[in-house]
Amino acid sequence: MKNPKPLVAIVMGSDSDLPVMQETAGVLAEFKVPFEMAVSSAHRSPERTAEYARKAEGRGIEVIIAGAGGAAHLAGVIAGHTLLPVIGVPMESGLMGLDSLLSTVQMPGGVPVATVAIGKAGARNAGILAVQILSGKRPELKKSLRRYKASLAAKVKAADKKLKK
Ligand code: RP5
Repeated sequence: MKNPKPLVAIVMGSDSDLPVMQETAGVLAEFKVPFEMAVSSAHRSPERTAEYARKAEGRGIEVIIAGAGGAAHLAGVIAGHTLLPVIGVPMESGLMGLDSLLSTVQMPGGVPVATVAIGKAGARNAGILAVQILSGKRPELKKSLRRYKASLAAKVKAADKKLKK
């Protein structure tokens, strides 16, 4: 069977970000959302990054997730070149990820980047947020999200039960 067209693009500033961004890929795979992954840097390959962002919508991408660290401008630069929703994932970095977090979240008015937590938890949440965005017009994803939320609650209940034994 032909691979379905990707709906989500996971972009990272360096291949050193891959171990974190795999968390996002894992979530999208769990929800059976087709995605693609790319390495492109706001600083080291600015032209390529701008072109990727400009062409994404035309290729059928509906959400872009951008992970970067340090002076993390990738998500913001991408947001400047597209109308698609952009989710920014700040990497843990030399300054414990605070540098990445602030460079990703502090966007000027008019160009939003939905910024999630630093590191793997954020990368996972970026995937879930992307599924939530896509679920607006896909009832099957809404169903899966409801099941997912129920599984989170069930885990907490089980942990509580174990504690009380
Ligand atoms: C950022 O610089 C990347 O997103 C990465 O988090 C960080 C370090 O990149 P490398 O020097 O490991 O390639 O652009």
